[in-house]
Amino acid sequence: MAQVLLDGVRKVYKGDTGDVVAVEDFNLTIRDREFVVLVGPSGCGKTTTLRMIAGLEEITQGSIAIGDKVVNHVPPKDRDIAMVFQNYALYPHMSVYKNMAFGLRLRRVPKVEIERRVREAARVLGIEALLDRKPKALSGGQRQRVAVGRAIVRQPAAFLFDEPLSNLDAKLRVEMRAELKKLHHRLATTMIYVTHDQIEAMTLADRVVVMNNGRIQQVAPPLRVYDYPANLFVAGFLGTPSMNFIKGRLEGSNGSVRFAVAGSDASVTMPPRLASRLRDHAGRDVVLGVRPEGIGHRSEGAFAGSGNVLPLVVRVVEPLGDEQIVHLEQLGAERPQQLIAKLDSHVKVSVEQRFEAHLNMEKVHVFDSESQQNVSLEQEHVASER
Ligand SMILES: Nc1ncnc2c1ncn2[C@@H]1O[C@H](COP(=O)(O)OP(=O)(O)OP(=O)(O)O)[C@@H](O)[C@H]1O
Ligand SMILES: [Mg+2]
Repeated sequence: MAQVLLDGVRKVYKGDTGDVVAVEDFNLTIRDREFVVLVGPSGCGKTTTLRMIAGLEEITQGSIAIGDKVVNHVPPKDRDIAMVFQNYALYPHMSVYKNMAFGLRLRRVPKVEIERRVREAARVLGIEALLDRKPKALSGGQRQRVAVGRAIVRQPAAFLFDEPLSNLDAKLRVEMRAELKKLHHRLATTMIYVTHDQIEAMTLADRVVVMNNGRIQQVAPPLRVYDYPANLFVAGFLGTPSMNFIKGRLEGSNGSVRFAVAGSDASVTMPPRLASRLRDHAGRDVVLGVRPEGIGHRSEGAFAGSGNVLPLVVRVVEPLGDEQIVHLEQLGAERPQQLIAKLDSHVKVSVEQRFEAHLNMEKVHVFDSESQQNVSLEQEHVASER
């Protein structure tokens, strides 16, 4: 058990064709027993960060501490950390038992103790019956359990996981996701988990670290990141379908603030609670962020009475059973903006029909077009949690 501290960490890969800055200005304290998930698009620096913590990659600048010990120059085997890789990296010629025991034998752990730990881990993971098999005789999910088992027997201070579920089919992923969460409860050990899957990040994490281009974009518990995204990138990355971004401009008049949609004369009134914060941005180009569930049809009455109606037209309807995804387009604009709404399936919509959209103004966000920052957050939600 340990906290893991990254302070001003930077990683530059030197290459023949130039340097690649993979991670920049990374500051984060991962608390003892915390489940932290690093999430972000391909190439944003997740694996590099994990490998630096494990000691498999040298850090270019900054420092990393595990417990209260700076480990910058401590070799991987002495860091008291276990890493589970995407491809599991099991030894094909060894039985499950031997795969799990291997690391302990290298460390000269007594045989009786090895046996005890392997059997205990196998019991926890439900793979006792597989201990004599070779990896090739296992399913993907079983191999994944063996890889986790091999990490558990080490009883490390922290676990590192690099996309451990990405080789599994959709159903198994969901199952193993729940297993990992249970395991975290049971072991009560620090876990640092990397994925590009936002659902995995949201469901597993105590705190989510959203990364892009080698930099941390936001650190917060999952629902905070979802409800109070710090900037356009975070807002667009979490949630399916993605948050709608409507281009326009803020206009102040007699104490209230309106959002005028670009390309037409439609506008909506910003709620009074936001007016004081947004008044400073009057006259600026902004992006109004509305999640698909924040757009309703007039007939639904969901956000009725708001008076904030946008005239749109239906282009595509995708029924999903209990709900439907409706693709909408701005009416009367030279270059119409596209929106996506998630509606209850009982709402009748048909293609080419006019759609009077109500926006749930309680849940909208306003992003400055230039800085890309969310300028509609209250101070308490802006606070970073690093
Ligand atoms: N050994 C290396 N040499 C040079 N560049 C590298 C090396 N490893 C990674 N990079 C570069 O560093 C950046 C970050 O890579 P990294 O593997 O950390 O991304 P990632 O977030 O794990 O992506 P993915 O989701 O695709 O696994 C990328 O631009 C990548 O091309
Ligand atoms: Mg990676």
